[in-house]
Amino acid sequence: MKFNKICVLGLGYIGLPTASTFAANGVQVVGVDIDLRIVETLRHGEIHIHEPGLRTLVEAAVSSGHLRVESSPEEADAFIIAVPTPFYQDTTGDYNGESYKIADMRAVTSAAEAIVPHLRKGNLVVLESTSPPRTTVDLIAPIFEKSGLKAGADFFLAYSSERVLPGQILRELIDNARVIGGITPESAQAGYDLYSIFVRGEIVKTDATTAEMVKLMENTYRDVNIAIANEFSRLADHFGVDVWEAISLANRHPRVTILSPGPGVGGHCISVDPWFFVETAPALTPLIYASRQVNDSQPHYVLDLVQRAMGSLKGKKIAVLGLAYKPDVDDLRESPAVEVVHLLQDAGAMVKAFEPYKPSARLPGIQAVPTLEDALSDAEAVVLLVSFIFFGALTPEKIKSLSPARILVDTVNVWAGRDWAGGGFQYHRLGVSEKRVSGPR
Ligand SMILES: NC(=O)c1ccc[n+]([C@@H]2O[C@H](COP(=O)([O-])OP(=O)(O)OC[C@H]3O[C@@H](n4cnc5c(N)ncnc54)[C@H](O)[C@@H]3O)[C@@H](O)[C@H]2O)c1
Repeated sequence: MKFNKICVLGLGYIGLPTASTFAANGVQVVGVDIDLRIVETLRHGEIHIHEPGLRTLVEAAVSSGHLRVESSPEEADAFIIAVPTPFYQDTTGDYNGESYKIADMRAVTSAAEAIVPHLRKGNLVVLESTSPPRTTVDLIAPIFEKSGLKAGADFFLAYSSERVLPGQILRELIDNARVIGGITPESAQAGYDLYSIFVRGEIVKTDATTAEMVKLMENTYRDVNIAIANEFSRLADHFGVDVWEAISLANRHPRVTILSPGPGVGGHCISVDPWFFVETAPALTPLIYASRQVNDSQPHYVLDLVQRAMGSLKGKKIAVLGLAYKPDVDDLRESPAVEVVHLLQDAGAMVKAFEPYKPSARLPGIQAVPTLEDALSDAEAVVLLVSFIFFGALTPEKIKSLSPARILVDTVNVWAGRDWAGGGFQYHRLGVSEKRVSGPR
């Protein structure tokens, strides 16, 4: 199948790189976003998100005329939906007295409704948004069929999710293996033809529900494995063990790969997607549910660690380093670091937080400061929450030159092995018991 013109709905972390990569490969692309500020920003060849290489790609795509940005869709050969699928913040479901989060699919349904008037015989529609199983078949196919066309017979419909790593999106978009699930084999083939325009990784065809489930399995697998690492961090603390040492020793087993513990799990994917399984099959997902509980409660464990290091937090000045949900990205969605700041403040601390990738972040109830110096200048303790390379480079001398703080709480193990005690610091690490004061290193 040939694609001269495509329409990409949703120009965020996924849609914008996808739209610009198609444009860079000579396809006429109409990028659509309902946020008018984003539309204006992109029309000027600027971008609203941080992703290495993206600015240059978008600038080139817009100035060559291959990428046009609009606030509503128009006729095209193919439509790609890459809009958000968060969970509802204030509505939950209930199963045997335990509450679970529910997917908010309103952006997907409204994007699908917006495509209906422009859908023509022979078109392809691909849903890229991470979605609960059966969304393509049960939720959006009926919306498109309001056009009078039959899904799979008159137009092709497929599901294909992204598995890119923020910070590496432009490379991974092209090189990663991709799964295309069609509601018919012909729909899967049409999706295959579309992504073959730029994908160099393997493209594997399957059915739509399998492809939806594969995406959720990938992120759920990581969530469950991080949960066990987080639980190990608490156990190590309890038994007088250094969890980081214990994990590195356990991982010498040829068939064991334990992930790293940390202050929790966040972002738009791993902390959200497992709920899509729980919501749709609560009786079948006790392990997935428990893992979500463990990871969501890890910020409380960090609070406990800081309280053990400082005693009462009432009136104490704390510098928090990092607000993003993971290193070297500017994405603060569902970030456990943000949750930790709120918990420290609820316990009476006065917190200044510095986020190097979003120094001007405005978050309700959080004092985010624009420089490291601002965060450290009057702090009594420093809590490191995200292992940005920039923070990893800090030495005892550097911190001493910027701050009176002599208590350090490292939740990501990036300052281990430095002579903090010699520099007059008390150094505390997540998953390392105070009881473990001696022994080989
Ligand atoms: N960010 C990631 O690393 C990643 C990775 C894999 C999958 N995903 C999935 O991809 C989807 C998109 O995620 P994202 O991170 O790009 O989100 P995002 O919030 O960065 O971008 C989504 C964009 O869609 C726009 N939008 C909302 N409703 C719209 C509509 N009806 N029509 C047109 N535009 C609309 C928003 O204004 C926003 O600009 C989600 O389902 C997410 O789970 C994200």
